[in-house]
Amino acid sequence: MHLSQLRLRDFRNYARLDAEFGPGFHLFLGRNAQGKTNLLEAIYLLATLRSFRGVTSSQMIRHGQKGYFVGGEAVSVTHREIKLYWSARERKLSLDGQPIRRLSDFVGVFRAVVFCSEDVQLVKGPGSRRRRFLDLLLAQTQPGYLATLQRYAAALRARNALLKQRTTDGAALESFGHELVRSGEELMRSRLSLIPRLAPIVGGAHRKMASTKEELAISYQPAVEGDFGLALKRSEARERALRTTVVGPHRDELQLLIDGQPAAHFASEGQKRTLAIALKMAQADFITACVGSAPVLLIDDIMGELDLHRRSGFMPLLQRTHASQSQVFMTCTEENWPSEMSRELNRWQVEGGGLRRA
Ligand SMILES: Nc1ncnc2c1ncn2[C@@H]1O[C@H](COP(=O)(O)OP(=O)(O)OP(=O)(O)O)[C@@H](O)[C@H]1O
Ligand SMILES: [Mg+2]
Repeated sequence: MHLSQLRLRDFRNYARLDAEFGPGFHLFLGRNAQGKTNLLEAIYLLATLRSFRGVTSSQMIRHGQKGYFVGGEAVSVTHREIKLYWSARERKLSLDGQPIRRLSDFVGVFRAVVFCSEDVQLVKGPGSRRRRFLDLLLAQTQPGYLATLQRYAAALRARNALLKQRTTDGAALESFGHELVRSGEELMRSRLSLIPRLAPIVGGAHRKMASTKEELAISYQPAVEGDFGLALKRSEARERALRTTVVGPHRDELQLLIDGQPAAHFASEGQKRTLAIALKMAQADFITACVGSAPVLLIDDIMGELDLHRRSGFMPLLQRTHASQSQVFMTCTEENWPSEMSRELNRWQVEGGGLRRA
């Protein structure tokens, strides 16, 4: 899979960009604040409809403008044209000229995995970060998962709104409770069956990256043990006191242990970073194994963070992606670019919201 074309209008510091890319390795070079990361953000948006920087869409509109446009062509067996327009008043997403009404119809058109320094939050951040990681991976590989997740989120929102009211409508609460349990059980089943398949891949990536011999253990810790419907019933009193839904897969955890200890609390900064990269490498390998084609890799400035050992653990993933006719987009400074790949690199210069071949 690769992105053959990228078009931007009023996106971040780009007034207008029309670029074409072949499969393979693309390096975005440039000084600070020129628009390198903005390019990766736009490409990631085409894959996931979200910014990997955790900002809202309004922040991506070029200052002083009303809306942004990001368009691209994703090439795998077929060519798919993705167009995304966003303004405060209007949102439009289309595929091959047809408007997309259900997001689940969009899933899998273009798959990307991003590596950035924020990834360390996967290890040291709150559980919501790890749930989002699992949810994205399942959405990227399992048809129907995103639709279930959306049903669960809608039921949860509706329930929580009811619980906030002074007098709760018991019948409505029960009806949303049924939907919550139905979709929640599906989410838990999917997460439960993912972990045993994912853990060995994370372990393999981690062994390549870690500098000392460390024992990594990954486990799924569902917030509900046993029957979800029953657990929800039992939590009624707490729910009324706290005015929110207190049990369910929105409280699940992905536990990460290094040498038997929770990584968030006991691992060193370097160990946390290594584990975060291993999780992302596993995301890419898992997608390739599931769907049969490698995702596009977006790598933002992380080469400088890797010492020689970890760098040599990371390079085979890039080489595999390259060999499988997929694509790697990497932002770098002149000092840090991967000279190991020098023969195969496409070099681009990014300057003041413009892009040209270097
Ligand atoms: N909504 C926006 N409208 C206009 N400009 C923006 C907007 N959002 C960010 N910018 C500007 O885009 C510029 C480039 O940002 P970007 O993060 O892509 O830089 P970079 O090339 O990755 O730099 P670094 O090497 O420091 O990471 C910054 O100067 C920033 O102020
Ligand atoms: Mg940057």
